[in-house]
Amino acid sequence: MSTLSVDVTQNGSVKSMESLCSAAEIEESDFLRLLERPPRPLNIERHRSCDERSLSELSIGLSPYPTFRNADNSSRFMDHLDVVFPLSPGRRSGFNTPRSQNGFETQTHPMVADAWEALRRSLVYFRGLPVGTIAALDSSEENLNYDQVFVRDFVPSALAFLMNGEPEIVKNFILKTLRLQSWEKKIDRFQLGEGVMPASFKVLHDPVRNTETLMADFGESAIGRVAPVDSGFWWIILLRAYTRSTGDSSLAERPECQKGMRLILSLCLSEGFDTFPTLLCADGCSMIDRRMGVYGYPIEIQALFFMALRCALLLLKQDAEGKEFVERIAKRLHALSYHMRSYFWLDLKQLNDIYRYKTEEYSHTAVNKFNVIPDSLPEWIFDFMPTHGGYFIGNVGPSNMDFRWFCLGNCIAILSSLATPEQSTAIMDLIESRWEELVGEMPLKVCYPALESHEWRIITGCDPKNTRWSYHNGGSWPVLLWLLTAACIKTGRPQTARRAIELAETRLLKDGWPEYYDGKLGRYIGKQARKLQTWSIAGYLVAKMMLEDPSHLGMVSLEEDKQTKPVMKRSSSWTF
Ligand code: GLC
Repeated sequence: MSTLSVDVTQNGSVKSMESLCSAAEIEESDFLRLLERPPRPLNIERHRSCDERSLSELSIGLSPYPTFRNADNSSRFMDHLDVVFPLSPGRRSGFNTPRSQNGFETQTHPMVADAWEALRRSLVYFRGLPVGTIAALDSSEENLNYDQVFVRDFVPSALAFLMNGEPEIVKNFILKTLRLQSWEKKIDRFQLGEGVMPASFKVLHDPVRNTETLMADFGESAIGRVAPVDSGFWWIILLRAYTRSTGDSSLAERPECQKGMRLILSLCLSEGFDTFPTLLCADGCSMIDRRMGVYGYPIEIQALFFMALRCALLLLKQDAEGKEFVERIAKRLHALSYHMRSYFWLDLKQLNDIYRYKTEEYSHTAVNKFNVIPDSLPEWIFDFMPTHGGYFIGNVGPSNMDFRWFCLGNCIAILSSLATPEQSTAIMDLIESRWEELVGEMPLKVCYPALESHEWRIITGCDPKNTRWSYHNGGSWPVLLWLLTAACIKTGRPQTARRAIELAETRLLKDGWPEYYDGKLGRYIGKQARKLQTWSIAGYLVAKMMLEDPSHLGMVSLEEDKQTKPVMKRSSSWTF
């Protein structure tokens, strides 16, 4: 039997083994045995309950947490294979393979079959080919734009299909949205940037002429005319997931895909008046697509920006046109990671520093660089901040720190390795110690806490859909389960993901796959939530499949890039 070396550290031993065998659950006695092992790197014989295939495929972005090493002590994580190495070629871990091959307890929940059926019903066809999934199949509510294929909503659907060995629909979607990108885009008399990707699109059927045409929305029809800044980033991230999952790099190498990427990058790498490397955005430009005080430098966009830049770096050809972008990306990543890790990061120590900040400092020696006034610290933050733990706050700008916790940005920070391994661990520690607030009875809060009363009036513009603990304002979104699960697996905490999934399983199907839940604990089906919301369904499936076969994580996870490792000199107790 071959051997594997597993780093067993003082407090990392259980976690290491947890993630090694996350799909297959280690027996309790094995855990106890591991706990008794001395806290130093050991060469242990491979654990029999770990399935050989899963292990050999775990060349994914897990590295700093559980470290898998070959017998010669070389790392199992192969950066250069990030793009081309197929994880599970053609393997279906979904509907048709309800049991993991190692025979452990991963018995498929009855909800899985229902979810697959609903996901397939949500498929949208264009001239005979599946090109996406509809946002919601709920006919009881007014359609608005829920009958469209949203780029961001399609991501969990795409991942589910990729994991199930069905990449064609993902390829069709990538190529179709690329065609939409080349459309001339106008809002009134204003022409949008060439690289903008649509928020959503729809297939129009003309029964008389028996034709089908596409109609896209780049924000010109959207409520509030919000700009879909996240669409282009998701598109690049998905292209990398497709490439990674199938091992087929020919799609990304196509001239039109290379051009599409360059157009998106031109938009977000352009020079302007900015003093920060973060991306300046209008309100409502991502999943939270309404006025919610997320204008400026919202964490969700910054994390997606970082991840998309890293994916583009893997996908761009170093030809005459690509080379220039590769250089610009490398520079931006360097600056962006430094900025985010330094100024968006909040833990107990940093909170205490801000609490004691002096203001009105001028020049390079300023400690309080953004002139944040300590009185602007909200009351709730002092109780919310655990002793161990931390997170990237919602927004940082001149005299502005939005201390709200946002789920998507923090999970993407972990997956993209925008967060250092220490920061990722801290983010997970915080989620675990604030479980009731962030997960409650239904995973997972989109942000915490909710805006209330005066703040709600001023910041949302009295939005009746975004009342406290509802929708984007502290509502609980089942779709976020896949992101939590991926972050849990990456940080070696599959049990935390399992706990969240089990919570969702008590209600999701029974409640008809709602879009979101309301209330402090997420106990109520959202006031205006659609039912049969596709990304709630797909998010659940992706979470289940990833937990069953953690090698899928590689599609949505990037290893830490040593070059962007921060050299922190701010204070001696600042730890990363
Ligand atoms: C809502 C959500 C948005 C989502 C869309 C379709 O507008 O806020 O994030 O993409 O519905 O589900």
